Amino acid sequence: MKILVTGGAGYIGSTISNYFLDKGHEVEIIDNLSTGLVKNIPKKSVFYKIDISNVKKLDEIFKKKKFDIVFHLAALISNEESIKYPKKYYYNNYFKSKIFLKQCIKNNINNFVYSSTAAVYGNKDKPISENDFLRPLSPYSKSKLRLENLFKKEKKKISCIILRYFNVAGSDLKLRCGFNVKKSHNLILNLCAASIKKKKFVINGDNYNTKDGTTIRDYIHVQDLAHIHLLAANLILKKKVFKILNCGYGQGFSIKEILTTFNSILKKDIEYRVGKERPRDIKISISNPNKLIKTIKWKPKYNNLSDLLNSSLKWYKKISTL
Ligand SMILES: NC(=O)c1ccc[n+]([C@@H]2O[C@H](COP(=O)([O-])OP(=O)(O)OC[C@H]3O[C@@H](n4cnc5c(N)ncnc54)[C@H](O)[C@@H]3O)[C@@H](O)[C@H]2O)c1
Repeated sequence: MKILVTGGAGYIGSTISNYFLDKGHEVEIIDNLSTGLVKNIPKKSVFYKIDISNVKKLDEIFKKKKFDIVFHLAALISNEESIKYPKKYYYNNYFKSKIFLKQCIKNNINNFVYSSTAAVYGNKDKPISENDFLRPLSPYSKSKLRLENLFKKEKKKISCIILRYFNVAGSDLKLRCGFNVKKSHNLILNLCAASIKKKKFVINGDNYNTKDGTTIRDYIHVQDLAHIHLLAANLILKKKVFKILNCGYGQGFSIKEILTTFNSILKKDIEYRVGKERPRDIKISISNPNKLIKTIKWKPKYNNLSDLLNSSLKWYKKISTL
């Protein structure tokens, strides 16, 4: 397969790129390095440091190579930042992607896997199915949903699988790439930082209506996600499809459960304090993965919380010493 990955210098895009290169596919990457890392870019890939909205460069790239499929991951991804700067998120994640999509279609590139997010559902007390009611709470999740709708609008012209990722964690198995420690903010990263820098870990609120008062998430290993992209791409190349699939294991863990498992990996207790709830934070987000499993015949391989956390920690330790 000849694959174009947007956002391929980022955490998930680079892991997927390595996964496909390992399997002998050709990978080209577009990234403006706004949050991505040069060291994440696989040596065997072709890299273009450009913005997804750079129409002139896109035409040049598309003239040189006929891609079988595009994995569209380029986006800004912080819920909190998006609340402060909603226009920035609308402009980067929706408006620029609209330009990109138009340019692809103009150049007869019609196969896409789009990385969306479970945040489009908002709060749900039970495992979420793809046809559940959508209620994005932040400008980030709104921008991702808006782009989903644009792909849907082009459905007659394109084949597309929209993957709604739940919380992604873990690292490339060979630790060749991973999250940008300086620009990412998430629970697991904060735990890694607390374990190494001896900073106090902060739980953002413990008064939610959940089993232990802390928020609950479904974490999926980035390596399983890479495999999902392969199965999705195979399906798209076999027949014309338009599908939306949740990507999670169907198992939720609270912050306190994550902390306990992390402590058992470290064999010591991380110090923590309870801080303020984050604005518009989601209380519970757990996937119902049945449609994913049935549609692409997927079996999870890395759904062990301890291994998942350990994998993130290994990358954090590696990148912190570079
Ligand atoms: N990390 C998660 O838990 C998670 C959960 C749900 C969905 N997602 C989605 O997965 C995708 C990848 O997320 P990630 O965690 O790897 O984030 P990331 O920040 O590590 O990667 C995003 C990449 O896109 C690039 N980029 C952003 N805007 C661009 C533009 N206009 N032109 C070119 N490049 C641009 C950045 O430089 C970066 O390398 C995003 O679309 C995100 O919405 C991530």
